[in-house]
Amino acid sequence: MTYIKDLKNEEGKTVSLNGWVSNKRTGKGLVFIILRDGTGLCQCVVTEESIDPTLFQIADKLSQESSLKITGTVHKDERQVGGYEIQVTDISVYHIAEEYPISNKPHGIEFLMDNRHLWLRSRRQWAIMKIRNTISFAIHKFFQENDFVQMDAPIFTGNACEGTTNLFETEFYDTPAYLSQSGQLYGEAMAMAMGKIYTFGPTFRAEKSKTRRHLSEFWMIEPEMAFYDLDMNMDLIENFLRYVVSDVLKNCEEELAIIERDTTILKNIVTTFPRLPYDEAVRIIKGEQDVNGKNSIKTLEADLEKVQQRIAAIEADIKEREEKIATPGMKKGEINFNVNKISDLREELKDCEEDARNIPQWLESARTFKYGEDFGGSDETVLTRLFETPIMVYNWPHEVKAFYLKRATDSRFAKGVDVLAPEGYGEIVGGGERETDKDLLIAKINEHELPMEAFEWYLDLRRYGSVPHAGFGLGLERLVAWVCKLPHVRETIPFPRMYGRLLP
Ligand code: 4AD
Ligand code: MG
Repeated sequence: MTYIKDLKNEEGKTVSLNGWVSNKRTGKGLVFIILRDGTGLCQCVVTEESIDPTLFQIADKLSQESSLKITGTVHKDERQVGGYEIQVTDISVYHIAEEYPISNKPHGIEFLMDNRHLWLRSRRQWAIMKIRNTISFAIHKFFQENDFVQMDAPIFTGNACEGTTNLFETEFYDTPAYLSQSGQLYGEAMAMAMGKIYTFGPTFRAEKSKTRRHLSEFWMIEPEMAFYDLDMNMDLIENFLRYVVSDVLKNCEEELAIIERDTTILKNIVTTFPRLPYDEAVRIIKGEQDVNGKNSIKTLEADLEKVQQRIAAIEADIKEREEKIATPGMKKGEINFNVNKISDLREELKDCEEDARNIPQWLESARTFKYGEDFGGSDETVLTRLFETPIMVYNWPHEVKAFYLKRATDSRFAKGVDVLAPEGYGEIVGGGERETDKDLLIAKINEHELPMEAFEWYLDLRRYGSVPHAGFGLGLERLVAWVCKLPHVRETIPFPRMYGRLLP
């Protein structure tokens, strides 16, 4: 058996490929099958005169997604998908598929999500899953090459790490328990044993939030390092993200092309990430301070105007084409051309209309942002649209951040850092230096109304050889969403779990 990705080594030879019919066209005495095998696509040509008549009949009747084994000779052909073509000499069918629900026509997102188990077979989804895989592997490579020990944190937990408002409660025998929101607290314990560790596991958040950034179950990477302070942590984050994104650029050229990702901004990953104290980030959001010659409010206003103009232009274009189609005596080819063009324009119109709805909200939230608050999704969008690289916002008002963050010298602030991805993506990493003062920690646990008995073991880490330490958490799906420039995290994970969706 040969895989499509390896055809380049088989030119002129006879090979057997296993796969599924991704597409099929027929001509006189000819059947063109686009075969998909998980490693790529390949056109297989069945010619009536060079194959058994019963096999030709079979090829002629193959439905989309039927599974089969194809044998034939490999020919180089630059014009074909993948660059190679098979002249088929034999076919053996595994299964003739029933009428496949997903066609090349546009489908609504809810329909595609209901059919996620099948949608994963489409080219775009394939490319995204490959990029996710490359990112996962790069993450392990980075930490393993830098002497971090991978650890697995428990999923059943007896305490809240990230506050109590978004806990999934379950039962552990007769005791209430929670699905882990973060492996961090366990990571801190392991760092005191191993020096530098990282977790890579599923985490759970129960907020009933239907935004493009939220999943109920997502995969988080959490390194934790003994003897690290906030600055060392930020250096590590920057090197880490640079390594991972560079790895994708190196290894996923084909996948990035399939999803039509403009990689210019990804290539900026080699430049230094701006580090902004919270105070400065707030001034930028509110339009009180410009960045790279851009003002948040003025940029949004200009964008809104551009979008409104574009909407008017698209609407006029659609109208004109519809009139053209309706003209008597129009050639079929020209009608088809215009029908397709209209469908593309409608897609673009939808995006523009969404922008036209969103931008006024972003403007509103930028204008009304109150100093001292945490950033919401809109604030992150406003801020990161002004930058061409990820940015790091540090020194947060301690009241809005988690209980475990170390207080800064100016005690109004905590030594937390959020990394926000550009192009409006927002937070992909949250982390910081950890509080080592046991009494301050106890006060914080009480302030957050967390049950002290569940944290006694955690306080032990401050009783026995307490050291400065720091760490962070990267949301895998948020990173994949930005790298692929996806409109929503639901396409970054094979089977998303989110508010309103448990199936398939
Ligand atoms: O900022 P968060 O809540 O931080 C923590 O959990 C820390 N314990 C991490 C640490 O310091 N070890 O979450 C970290 C990251 C976020 O920046 C985001 O990328 C992702 O996890 N994340 C989510 N991703 C998808 N859906 C959600 N509901 C997410 N909540 C957080
Ligand atoms: Mg956070």
